[in-house]
Amino acid sequence: MRYVMKGGIPLAGEVTISGAKNAALGILAAAILTDESVVIENLPDVSDVSVLLSAFREIGVVIERPDRHSVRINAANIHTAVADSPYIKKLRAGYYLLGALLGKYHHAEVSMPGGCNIGNRPIDQHIKGFRMLGAHSHNENGKVVLDAKELKGSHIYLDMASVGATINLMLAAVMARGNTIIENAAKEPHIVDVANMLNSMGARIKGAGMDVIRISGVERLHGTEYTIIPDQIEAGTFMMAAAVTKGDVLVRNIIPQHMDAISAKLMEMGCEVTEHIDSIRVMGRPQLYSCNVKTLPYPGFPTDMQPQMGVALCMAEGVGTITESIFENRFKYVDELSKMGADTEVKGSVAIFKGHSRLKGAELVAPDLRAGAALVLAGLAAEGVSVVDGVDYVLRGYEDFAEKLQSLGARIQLLDDGDDLQKAKLKIG
Ligand code: UD1
Repeated sequence: MRYVMKGGIPLAGEVTISGAKNAALGILAAAILTDESVVIENLPDVSDVSVLLSAFREIGVVIERPDRHSVRINAANIHTAVADSPYIKKLRAGYYLLGALLGKYHHAEVSMPGGCNIGNRPIDQHIKGFRMLGAHSHNENGKVVLDAKELKGSHIYLDMASVGATINLMLAAVMARGNTIIENAAKEPHIVDVANMLNSMGARIKGAGMDVIRISGVERLHGTEYTIIPDQIEAGTFMMAAAVTKGDVLVRNIIPQHMDAISAKLMEMGCEVTEHIDSIRVMGRPQLYSCNVKTLPYPGFPTDMQPQMGVALCMAEGVGTITESIFENRFKYVDELSKMGADTEVKGSVAIFKGHSRLKGAELVAPDLRAGAALVLAGLAAEGVSVVDGVDYVLRGYEDFAEKLQSLGARIQLLDDGDDLQKAKLKIG
């Protein structure tokens, strides 16, 4: 699938942000820890979520969808702790089945995680933690196999503040015997959301959102109804869309505090950013000013907003840099921006944007999820028509991306592979 778009139109109006994808994936995994029914609301309708739900069905989880944004899950009849379907292989977050199945059944066999190719992405910290909780682990035919007689609370120090490892270890430890401490835990908003959800099921987790998480194991968890937080990265993407198109957008249904790092950078670049209780308005200015950005774990600038920021820096006045400190392979979009006329250079983990570029429409390929969204922003900011190919990536994490942009005045269309591209280009241009 591909997007075709005509740039140069300032985006204006209001956009409502969906539930957080990365929180949803952890929360869905948490839901299978109990045999009672769990209802989850504000579920984003993105393909990563539907793929994980398909993987759940294959192991015997009963899934009902009362509406597009809610799901009722019952995991009483899981018939296998082996999750190796093609669905699981597509996803990064398939790894949460390791923590959830180990936590509930003391056994898990899960295909090695897939997801975006943005770096090496090992899971050694997850495995180290599972072992400290009492599990044995080995790899077998592309699967991670975990087995434990019983799980016992432990004191786990993470070598880096890994989002996935923090959530996975919470999933495995909530029903372990005794107390678990996770030190150097990740602090992203979705860590707190998964912990709140688990606590609403009867877990005893304290300190989520801080460096040290303390868990007192409980014997069993019960059903719950839980509403997922709004998506920080989707919100940030629309804030950046307002900035790069010199538009005026009210981003609604968000938690403004989650956006602090992004809001601060946009203000530094000259945008007007006003915060309300559950929304933020971003007014672009005729000229953006450069800045330097370093990606860091929360509350630092999110690596998942790095490519979108790269687009803004291309167009800004002066030289700006992005230092990527989380993933080593996250600058593939920079070559695509060069095709649009951007003056950029990548040196190791630093991308240099020389600024002042007037981006021109081009035919681009999305290298991964967030970079794909960033290239769409670049196309909307550029002169003329652009095509962004390979946007199945984007659909993994953005609900109704084209429709939401259209509602802000963007000329953008999602095309199937079989659709006539030339015709669509003529129509949109
Ligand atoms: C999650 C998000 C992803 C986001 C990232 C950082 C999901 C499904 N994905 O990915 O969108 O970009 O957080 O905010 O929620 N590391 C190790 N060993 C480990 C685990 C991680 O070396 O066992 C390294 C990684 O290679 C990376 C860093 O730690 O350099 C952070 O990774 P992590 O926070 O675990 O990211 P993910 O959970 O993969």
